[in-house]
This record gives sequence, structure tokens and C-alpha cells, in this order.
Amino acid sequence: MAYAAVLGYGVVGSGVFGLLRQNAALIEKRMGEPIAVKRVLDLRSFPGDSVEPFLTHDAEDIINDAEIGVVAEAMGGLNPAYEYSMRALRAGKHVVTSNKELVSVHGAELMAAAAEYNVCYLFEASVGGAIPVIQPLKHMLLTESVSQVAGILNGTTNYILTQMREHDAGFAETLKDAQDRGYAERDPSADIDGFDACRKLAILLSVCLGKYVNYSKIPTEGIAGITSDDFAFAAVSGNTIKLIARADIKGSAVEASVAPMILSKDSRLGVVGDVYNAVSFTFDAKDNILLGGRGAGKYPTAGAIVSDMAEALRRGCETPAWTRDEAALSAPDEVISTRMIRYTFTEQQKSRATVHRVFGTEDLIWANAGILGQAAFFTRPMKEREFACRINLLKSMPDIGVKSTLRLYAGR
Ligand code: HSE
Repeated sequence: MAYAAVLGYGVVGSGVFGLLRQNAALIEKRMGEPIAVKRVLDLRSFPGDSVEPFLTHDAEDIINDAEIGVVAEAMGGLNPAYEYSMRALRAGKHVVTSNKELVSVHGAELMAAAAEYNVCYLFEASVGGAIPVIQPLKHMLLTESVSQVAGILNGTTNYILTQMREHDAGFAETLKDAQDRGYAERDPSADIDGFDACRKLAILLSVCLGKYVNYSKIPTEGIAGITSDDFAFAAVSGNTIKLIARADIKGSAVEASVAPMILSKDSRLGVVGDVYNAVSFTFDAKDNILLGGRGAGKYPTAGAIVSDMAEALRRGCETPAWTRDEAALSAPDEVISTRMIRYTFTEQQKSRATVHRVFGTEDLIWANAGILGQAAFFTRPMKEREFACRINLLKSMPDIGVKSTLRLYAGR
């Protein structure tokens, strides 16, 4: 019999508790022994809930219990999740987590402690919800390098953007719906402003590079400014808008970003809708691999945690996926992209002449969505630094109101 504990009885923690009990017979058969929940930590009480007999308000009841061999941390946030995870590892317990904030900041220390104490620190559920991505990535990296990572890594924003495009739904009401479904973070700005996807990209990049990637150094933009007019102009050329987390790795040059981007609605990432996530890796020999599945939600995330619990018990321990050495990221100024610029005008011909004066005439493509008083155009590819100069000049023009500047996704 393997004994388990769950830290946090929120959406994900209660899913882990429920799934371990629901699949108990199957897990026992496949693992050769049952995984029994012995304790669940939460500050709250849950009168009448099936968790009641297992509930404790004191982490010491878990850390000091030698029978508990695996701990699922589903508390979220840095503290006290970091302290409890570290102490559980030092007490010889495996720890598995969905906590991307903690993994992206302290993953290296936690994995180093796990290796020292001959246990596992696994975090499959921290990226892509139900999608097995960390373990397959580690496996593939044993023999090859990755040159590009690109994906939709946030379920909440993908749900919102899908609803906005398909049902012309409003931003605020769709966000509320996503929160009610248990997709969103406690602080929804982590989703909306792109930081959740940014942390997940930092985790994937850290695995790819074997070094710590500081998420705060990845240029990140959210989706709060996207409107139905952006979708209308994108649709003119068969495109849609997705929050894309991407990185190109060329030798020691690593260029990463998170931003809403325009891409073909029929492309591999363009067709990923609802709360689904997808991530593609480009390898030297294996070429491009796309992994997909439900990126958020109670049971999809709990499913990934429970798989990690079983994996930890079966595996024992492993080499840390990355060290505390920090990977250098390229300066964002040098990144080259094409943008779709949407603006309002008072006189169409005059505004076009102004755009041509500022952005040139070569390779500039106009889009007409039939919206009164609005126009959009695609720039030629240019470095961020050059784009910043030109767009600031355009914004200063009296007859033009720049509304959005969305990048065109150029990856696979
Ligand atoms: N808020 C996250 C998302 C949850 O929407 O993807 C899963 O990490």
C-alpha cells in the first residue's frame, strides 16, 4: 500500500482526491498496489464532504508522517507551497505538482533536493493540463535538441478567444464563464495578461535548455485589448487570433515571447479551440511534433497529477531537468515580425497616404473588413526596434487612431 497526501482542496486538489478514489481498483491493478489518500491539507473545513475524515489544517501531520510516500501539491502560489514541498522532499517523499508559478521560479532547487533525497519532483500538470508534455520532452531530449517551441498554453484565454470568434461573445462574460468552469487562475490577470502562458513557456524552455529560464525576461502581452473588429480584419485573409507562446533556439541565441498573434484559422495551432492547448516542438531528426489535449479544468489537471504520482512511485528518482544557471535570452529589439495594424480614420484616402509615408509602400498589404471608419494593413517584416519608431510616428498623426498592432505568427 502506498500512502498519499494532497496539499490544497481547491478545484485541482479535490479532483486529485476524487480521481484517486474513483480509479482505486484500476490503479491497484496496474500499479500492483493501491495508492490510498491518508491526509488532505486545507485551511478550510468541508462539513459533509467525503474529504472530512482525511482533512487536516496542519502541514506537520503530512510532513512528519513516515507512511506518506507521495504528496500532490495543488495549493498554487509560491508560499507556503515552496516550504511544504521542500520539507516533504527532505522527508523522503515524492512531490508532484500543477503549480507552474512554483516550478518556474524554484524548480531547479526542488529537483536538486529531490535528487539528493532519492525521490522525484514531477510537474507534468504544470504545463498543458492533461497533455503529457514534460515526460515525452525529456525522453526526446536524451538524443536530440529542440530548435523551436510554439504553442497555445493557456486554456482560459483560448476559451475566451474561441467564444469571441465563434459566438461574437463579450470578453467579461466569457471570462466569468471560464472562471465558473474552473479554468481560470485565482487572479484572472495571470491568464488574461499572458503570465500563466509565459511561466509555462519558461518551464518548457528550461527543460529544453537544461538551464533556468527567468519568465520575467520573456516579453509578454495579453489578450485584454483584442476586440471583435480584430477578428473581423484577421478573417479577411482566412486568419484567426490565438495567444501564442513561442521560442526559437538557434545555438546560444534564444528568442522567446508570448503575445496574441494572427495565424491561419486552418493551421495546426489555428484549429485548436475551446479550452484545448497544443504545443509543437521542432527537433533535429524527429522534425515537428504536435501534442494536444485539455489544457485546464479540474479532472484533466488532476489526471496529470495522479499519473505523476504513479510515475514517481514506480520510478524512484531522476536527474534534475535543469540547473540554477540562468539561460540568456536574446534582446526583444532584434526580433523580426510582420504586424497587422488596425486603425480608425476620418478620411480614408488621406489616412492611407499617411500610412504609406510612415510604413512605405513596398510589401504593405491592405485588409478591408467593411467596417465603417476603420482600416487595417499588414507591414513588411521588420525588427521590433524599427517597428516601435514607425508606429510611434503613426500614432502621432492627427488623422489616425491606432487600435491594435498584432503580430503574424511565422512558426509551424
Ligand atoms: N488557468 C490555467 C489555464 C489553468 O487556463 O490554462 C491551467 O494551467
